[in-house]
Amino acid sequence: MTKIRPTRPDDLAVIQRIELAAGELFRTIGMADIADHPVPTIDVLAEYQRAALSWVAVDHADRPVAFVLVQRVDGRAHIEQVSVHPDHARRRIGRDLIDHVERWAAGQGLPALTLTTFRDVQWNGPYYERLGFTVLAGSDRGPRLRTLMSEEAAHGLDPEHRIAMIRAIHDRQ
Ligand SMILES: CC(C)(COP(=O)(O)OP(=O)(O)OC[C@H]1O[C@@H](n2cnc3c(N)ncnc32)[C@H](O)[C@@H]1OP(=O)(O)O)[C@@H](O)C(=O)NCCC(=O)NCCS
Repeated sequence: MTKIRPTRPDDLAVIQRIELAAGELFRTIGMADIADHPVPTIDVLAEYQRAALSWVAVDHADRPVAFVLVQRVDGRAHIEQVSVHPDHARRRIGRDLIDHVERWAAGQGLPALTLTTFRDVQWNGPYYERLGFTVLAGSDRGPRLRTLMSEEAAHGLDPEHRIAMIRAIHDRQ
């Protein structure tokens, strides 16, 4: 069973390393620009940590091997980033982190999870679809989500390949 706990200040540099290593997956499919994308700064990660919107999955020695960052966007729980260190990939840690966020969001009274991702990358769109997410049509995107996607485009993420996805929150507690 995946052990998940809130992020602590001393986890932040480890989270940066996980993000860097997880991003390398994109290099294997010719998306070096994504792998080379700067990782979130310690200041940004600290904001999520202080707001209690960041969780880590840890190994037997309590060392983070994966993390998830969340923000409230248009009244929904928006998964800003979920990354698993490649040494620990494909063991359902990503799925468990998302389910953890869902339990948190249910406790907050939020109705759904959202995220933005690459439509055609195997561990992005198709993966989230298997986890029960569906594509959120442009007209169903709230104002803040639309802004976030415009910001992504300004940072070089090709909007042609980006989608927003949503999963309603069921009572899985
Ligand atoms: C997406 C991610 C968080 C999934 O974490 P995970 O713990 O490996 O995921 P799970 O074990 O729950 O599910 C694994 C599934 O992801 C997909 N997947 C993961 N790695 C893959 C790869 N290298 N090639 C193809 N599919 C892959 C497969 O569907 C896989 O299922 P399978 O193992 O039964 O084939 C992880 O791959 C990651 O950190 N990727 C890089 C960062 C990223 O893209 N984050 C999401 C941004 S929106």
